Amino acid sequence: MLERETTAEKRRGFSDADVVRLVLDWKLASQRELKPIVQKRQAASEKRPLLTELIEEGVVTPKQAARMEAELETAEKVDQKIPGYQLLERVGSGGMGVVYKAKQLRMDRIVAIKLLKPKYSRNARYVERFLREAKVAAKLSHNHIVQAIDAGEAYGHYYFIMEFVEGVTVGELLAKHGAFEESEAIRIVLQIALALDHASKRAMVHRDIKPENILITQDGVAKLADMGLARFSEDAESETLDRGLIVGTVYYISPEQIRGDAEVDSRADIYSLGATLYTMLTGKPPFEGSQAREVLVKHLEKMPTPLNRTGRKVSDGLSVVVETMLAKNRQDRYPTPGDLVFDLECLSAGKPPRLAQERLSLRTLAELSEGEPVAIRRAHRTNVNKPATATSLGWVSGLAILLLLSVVVNVLMFLNR
Ligand SMILES: Nc1ncnc2c1ncn2[C@@H]1O[C@H](COP(=O)(O)OP(=O)(O)OP(=O)(O)O)[C@@H](O)[C@H]1O
Ligand SMILES: [Mg+2]
Repeated sequence: MLERETTAEKRRGFSDADVVRLVLDWKLASQRELKPIVQKRQAASEKRPLLTELIEEGVVTPKQAARMEAELETAEKVDQKIPGYQLLERVGSGGMGVVYKAKQLRMDRIVAIKLLKPKYSRNARYVERFLREAKVAAKLSHNHIVQAIDAGEAYGHYYFIMEFVEGVTVGELLAKHGAFEESEAIRIVLQIALALDHASKRAMVHRDIKPENILITQDGVAKLADMGLARFSEDAESETLDRGLIVGTVYYISPEQIRGDAEVDSRADIYSLGATLYTMLTGKPPFEGSQAREVLVKHLEKMPTPLNRTGRKVSDGLSVVVETMLAKNRQDRYPTPGDLVFDLECLSAGKPPRLAQERLSLRTLAELSEGEPVAIRRAHRTNVNKPATATSLGWVSGLAILLLLSVVVNVLMFLNR
């Protein structure tokens, strides 16, 4: 039995709809589980707060209820405090905070407001960077970027206001329907590559490309969300702490961001978009693990299972593009998002991806000139998930190439005599 009655709820009387939305959003119960409780409650003559009922039914724990109250209270406070905006409903939450649908009163238009978690407000260095990056993002204007509108502080909470996109995220589509058709994946990723091209020409790096940050409108247009929302995880003080917490992000983060390299550029976004594309094609991220750390180490050291060995049929052209995007060393990736756009447009037109193929040939030549047979290096590089026979096949073909080279050299020497 509940000892401490849900005090805030009693005081304020949160709407059933708000409580239900939060329970569903936090995945504490399914709609099917909630329905009979809500129905029973509606039929009852004396109504008690819904949260109290949910605790008694064992749907939420008192601790979870207290956290829900705190969040609902915050929403109410902010509702009264963000000048010029009225919060309408909560649409979701992520690692950095909660997103609300809201009305911008003066313009009479619907916007999305992301309310950052309190820990963000406590870090002055982060706040300064957050406001600076939001300002730059608000200057961007692109059909495939969710428009940043404003950023500021209210009631001790920092917020980020953006265009409201009626639609679903690629993450939601993956959860519902599994992997995408190749042509659809290319169509969506091409639009995001165009967004990155626009941003990178204005020196903006997104730093958190992932399926949850790609929104698809009802007309099928892809839009990149959270552009200009400075990443907390790159703040040195909180880095290690946050790394473990941003679970969604670890699947898509680039090796240089994991290492904490000082100068992260748009090639990091290309890597994360590559990991997103890999997930869209196979239904699984390139690296998995039971702990965030394990996934991060794999990004640094392992090669992903080649696309054509994941059980999904993916064309050779697209496989080479994904391989180029996911190169560990950023020099081996596409130098700019514009180059990626070029290759994705080739694929859309049914042509081979010229730039990725050129890069691959150059790498092969470089490896040859280093003196180590390509087949051996390739086998070595990709043997993480290969059976032993595949590795030894690599050695055999490597030796065969060496033999062939020595025959050619001998013939040439013989002819020159
Ligand atoms: N501009 C927007 N318009 C409409 N809905 C949005 C908008 N931005 C986010 N959402 C919704 O809110 C949900 C939560 O977004 P949020 O960015 O907080 O989470 P996330 O992307 O999973 O994590 P992160 O904090 O790392 O970005 C999204 O899944 C999406 O459904
Ligand atoms: Mg997001």
